[in-house]
Parts: sequence; structure tokens; C-alpha cells
Amino acid sequence: MSDPKKLFVKTYGCQMNVYDSERMSEALGGVGYVTTDSPDEADMILLNTCHIREKAAEKVYSELGRLKPLKAEKPDLKIGVAGCVAQAEGAEIQRRQPLVDLVVGPQSYHRLPKMAESLAEGAKVLDTEFPEEDKFDHLARRPKAGRGPTAFLTVQEGCDKFCAFCVVPYTRGAEVSRPAGQVLDEARDLVERGVREITLLGQNVNAYHGHEDGLAGLIWALAEIDGLERIRFTTSHPNDMDDALIAAHGECGKLMPYLHLPVQSGSDRILKAMNRKHTAEQYVRLIERIRAARPDLLLSGDFIVGFPGETEADFEDTMALVREVGYGQAYSFKYSTRPGTPAAEKPQIDDGVASDRLQRLQALLSEQQRAAQEAMVGRDVSVLFERAGRMPGQMAGKSEYLQAVHVEGDGIAIGDLRRVRVTASGPNSLSGSVLR
Ligand code: 5AD
Ligand code: SF4
Repeated sequence: MSDPKKLFVKTYGCQMNVYDSERMSEALGGVGYVTTDSPDEADMILLNTCHIREKAAEKVYSELGRLKPLKAEKPDLKIGVAGCVAQAEGAEIQRRQPLVDLVVGPQSYHRLPKMAESLAEGAKVLDTEFPEEDKFDHLARRPKAGRGPTAFLTVQEGCDKFCAFCVVPYTRGAEVSRPAGQVLDEARDLVERGVREITLLGQNVNAYHGHEDGLAGLIWALAEIDGLERIRFTTSHPNDMDDALIAAHGECGKLMPYLHLPVQSGSDRILKAMNRKHTAEQYVRLIERIRAARPDLLLSGDFIVGFPGETEADFEDTMALVREVGYGQAYSFKYSTRPGTPAAEKPQIDDGVASDRLQRLQALLSEQQRAAQEAMVGRDVSVLFERAGRMPGQMAGKSEYLQAVHVEGDGIAIGDLRRVRVTASGPNSLSGSVLR
């Protein structure tokens, strides 16, 4: 038998890409590829790309440039671009960087085994269709081998919201939900292999409609699975937080008290220009309702500064909203023009002004994050242990609030779920001791 071929996958961008990379590796596993951590020894390199901001997209071309000497040394090496840049730029990628053998969009990953055959025959391959068949019906079943205690599970793809700055509705297409039965089968499979926490993924996951009772219905059905201890979901739109989902935060013990709920801006004028279809006030009232259901909820969000037309007063509205709401964690970005989106047509604001606002917002958000970390000291949390810690003898895991926690690891195994008393906080992680 010939040696197995080696596959190196580099993942950019969001958690949905992490999930997709895993599924691509499994699909190619079916035709003899094993994964490697080293690009130098790979027979195929796949870049699973992100197109959300210009910087993210440009990274791909720099990486392709860096692969040139390797390809010159190993002409049989196959180089592929997958993900959202593949979907958005298609054939343009091969024109700009001829060393690329394969361009594959996110809806065609189930066809990778066939594509690998064509590549072996020396062909160049481009597939960025939205095929009729459901890729999830055709993707290889995840192998039975054991795995870590946490997993991502994509339940929904695409988005119909058309926020004026965002490429997702164009790259990932219309909103599509996987049927609940298919999701539950995959979840049971994961649990059999040792998974105790599942994060449900979707570009607009709370618009999920593959269960008759929406995302809340799916969460309650998942909660029935013995051995599955924790459920999370990301990422959501405020207008899709329905009553049942809010109630689940208070009533479903397996749904973790952490919510990523982007608002993008605190200015009604900018929210309108962004086509977000809600006001700052509506968002604040929504958060109040969710916190009434689950008072200890840790809230996370996304913000964009420097959106076309944003004035200092608009930006101050964002700062005021952040002060009012209080975030335990957050992501903030400088607006990046995406070709083809409505906002790209608008006059852009000065880059220096946008950078200055980003810095001020990030300072406020870091201060809030630090305060949220410090507020945990002295409290007891439950920690799912995922890996050895940085220091010898330490173990590391995540609390129910998704904060990293380190403990002295005596007698603790990966996959254990234990009560921990938090004794100290740093900006990015907590330390504690396991309660016996
Ligand atoms: N510029 C800057 N940030 C963006 N995001 C999406 N599109 C853009 C853009 N054009 C941010 C939003 C979104 C997150 C995933 O990325 O905050 O919630
Ligand atoms: Fe993009 Fe999210 Fe808006 Fe959809 S809801 S268009 S994914 S920012």
C-alpha cells in the first residue's frame, strides 16, 4: 500500500470555518488523506479563508505568495483556496495567483473527494456553486475516533439580513437551516465520542428554523441527550431573539449563561444606515429582558467604528451604549469597505479618525472585560477541562461564562466538569482551585 497523502489545512476567520476545516479533512480522509501540522510535508495545502474585512481577504494572497518556494520545490503539491474568499473571488484567485490548483466554495465541500481525483490527474478545479443537493447529506460521517470534550456544530448557514457593511449574504447566500433530526444525529455522534459541550454555529444562528420551535426548540431537544452537559450558540441578531429563546436562558440548565449579541453601533442614525432594523433603545430593552431571565448572563458583542457618515456624536452614542449595557467580552473593528455591499458606495470617513475611535472604544471594552474577570474572584464556577495548562501540572478549561480558568491539575482529566473556586483574575484568564 502506498503511504497516505498528507493534508495541511490553515483556518482563517470565524468558528464556522473551524467546523468546515474539520469536515473538509474528514471528507478527504475518505480518499486517503491524513492531516499534518506541517505545511512542508503536505501533499495538499488548503487555506480556509475569510472575506469579512479587507485585511482578512488580503492575508490569503500574502500566504499564497509565501507558498511559492514550496510549490517550486514540490511541483506535485496541490494548493487549494476554500471558504469565503473562494466564494467571493472565484476564478480571480487563480488569475491573480496561478499556483492555486483548487478553488472551492463553502457549499461544495462534499465534492472534495471527486475534486482530489481531478487534481491528481493534473487538472485545475473551480467549484463555487450553490448545488441543489445538501452537502450535509453527502459529507463523510464524522469518524468514531475519540476527540476533545468541546465541539462546534453548524446548524445554519447564510444570512438574509443584508446589513449594509456585510459580505455574508453575498458569500454565504440565503439563510438555510439544517433539519433538527440531522443536527441531533450529529450531536449524538459527537457525545458518543466524548464531547460534553456543543456550540451551535450559524452566521445568524438564532434565525434557525430547522425545528418547528426554532432555535429554542433545537436547544431543548439537544438538552435531552444524556452526556451532553453544555450548549452554546453563536452568532445572533437582536431581532431574532424570540421569547422562547429568552426563556430558555432562564429555564434550560444546559444552556450556558453567555450570549454573543452584536449591536454594531449605539447611534440610531448609524443603525438605520447599517440596515440593522432596530434602535439602540430596543437593543438595551432586549438585554434587560434576557438578563431578567438569566441575571448572571455574561454578554459579548461586536462593534464597528468609522461606518460611512459616523460623526463624533454617533460614536459617543456607541460609547454610551457600551457603558449602559456592560460587556464581559467584545470584538470591535474599524469599518472595512467590502466591494458589492451598499455601504461601499458611500463616502468613507477619515482613517485616522476611525483609528482613534477604535482605540477609545477598545480601551472602554477592555476595562469592562477586566472588571468582569475581577468580579469572578471568590465565586464558584463550573469548569469543563479541555487541555493541560501552560505551567507543568496545570489544567485549563472554560467556565460556564466562557472564561478561561487554570487550576493545579492534580487528579483532573480532560473532559472532567468540576466546581472551581476562583482565586485570582488576569485580563484573559482566571485561576482557581478545584472544590473537592
Ligand atoms: N467592516 C468591519 N467589520 C465588519 N464586520 C462585518 N463586516 C464588516 C466590515 N465590512 C464585523 C461585524 C460582525 C463581525 C463578524 O464582523 O461586527 O458582527
Ligand atoms: Fe452580516 Fe450578521 Fe448582518 Fe447577516 S446579520 S448581514 S451575517 S452582520
